[in-house]
Amino acid sequence: MAESITITDNRTGESIEIPIVDGGVAATEWEKLLPGVWFYDPAFMTTAAAESSVSYIDGDAGKLEYRGYPIEQLAEQSTYLEVAYLLLHGELPTRDEFDEWVHEITYHTFIHENVRKRFLEGFHYDAHPMGILVSAVAALSTFYPEAKHIFDPEIRYKQMIRLIAKMPTLAAAAHRFSVGMPFVYPDNSLSFPANFLSMMWKTAEPRFDANPALARAVDVLFMLHAEHEQNCSTTAMRVVGSSHVDPYSACAAAAAALYGPRHGGANETVIRMLSEIGSLEAVPDFIKAVKEGHGRLQGFGHRVYKNYDPRAKIIRRVAYDVFEVTGKNPLLDIALKLEETALEDDYFIARKLYPNVDFYSGLIYQAMEFPLEMFPVLFAIPRTAGWLAHWVEMLDQDTKIARPRQLYTGQPRRDYVPVESR
Ligand code: ACO
Repeated sequence: MAESITITDNRTGESIEIPIVDGGVAATEWEKLLPGVWFYDPAFMTTAAAESSVSYIDGDAGKLEYRGYPIEQLAEQSTYLEVAYLLLHGELPTRDEFDEWVHEITYHTFIHENVRKRFLEGFHYDAHPMGILVSAVAALSTFYPEAKHIFDPEIRYKQMIRLIAKMPTLAAAAHRFSVGMPFVYPDNSLSFPANFLSMMWKTAEPRFDANPALARAVDVLFMLHAEHEQNCSTTAMRVVGSSHVDPYSACAAAAAALYGPRHGGANETVIRMLSEIGSLEAVPDFIKAVKEGHGRLQGFGHRVYKNYDPRAKIIRRVAYDVFEVTGKNPLLDIALKLEETALEDDYFIARKLYPNVDFYSGLIYQAMEFPLEMFPVLFAIPRTAGWLAHWVEMLDQDTKIARPRQLYTGQPRRDYVPVESR
């Protein structure tokens, strides 16, 4: 059987045969036969916009791999910083490479005093931390003007280190500012997640030592959120990066995409939904209402996964580790009951709707006392590694500037009428 498709233009009878390579057909071949006829694919539902070797998802089987490594193995045995290295370099580091990487990241966690004093403190007292983060990341490009030399390997690498290292500092600063607490400087003696928790929660103690189980939980959640191939924010990174702008500006665009409730805000919606349901007894009526079309079961369903999201399984386990320290989140029982009810219900079975990564992550963050507004920020910190991995890949592929076509549905040509005559 030929691994190809044949397209015939019925207007002329001309045909073209296009090979199927890596599960896709090259649209440039199609264009040879049909110049000026565009693929109509809003939201890129059936378009592969890139060749990529960063991560692999099998949505039907519920599998996720970073550079070939199953997410379950990484979550069990690795750390976020090692995963970030893997995503950016394509291979796991040797001991020496890893030590150097951790050192570099650790020594780039400080932000310029002007970012904090003049920039962050200029926001309104109740500014949303994600709005602060998006703006602060964009502002970094003005502090590192050399960043625009994106084809200089050393300069490029330095900005990647800075971005991964400074994200937690900016994120914690955004939170501290929004609750009126003083800024906490990074502590280079702490691990990446422990340092983040210190910058979040430290008060008067000389050194903040986070509970190791909570620091590990944050690290696992960071690994799970580090990368997810061509999602909305990564696509934003690639599209904006294709203009050859500096990585801070491109990352700010990606973070802005993540701010949206359909993307980075879903776990917050889950918490609101669970709070509204309020009791185990209310679960059947809620499920009935969802089936009748009154809203969605938040944290369920996924564009790609038509099976249990592998990250949701890992998060469920992490939740119990966290609750041993923090006490159980009272919303957990409602979440478990919802899951159990939905997974046995024909409506959800027929539509292949399973819990996604957001179903349980919010419960963990809430139990650790992160405010709801910080949820997308907690997503942006680790996803920076994924964004950068795709950015580098895109630059190395010498990709053209992203510039789709449109199907014009507006007015035909008409003449301007002066305002007095309208
Ligand atoms: N609850 C109830 N029904 C649902 C849900 C849900 N959560 N998700 C999908 N459906 C139903 C739809 O009503 C539709 O039914 P129909 O065929 O009878 O019309 C069918 O399942 C297919 O739904 P689509 O909207 O076509 O699926 P799509 O792939 O576009 O949506 C999405 C995926 C947006 C994630 C969706 O499942 C959803 O809204 N889920 C809730 C929000 C959520 O959890 N988002 C987080 C996603 S993970 C992330 O971004 C990190």
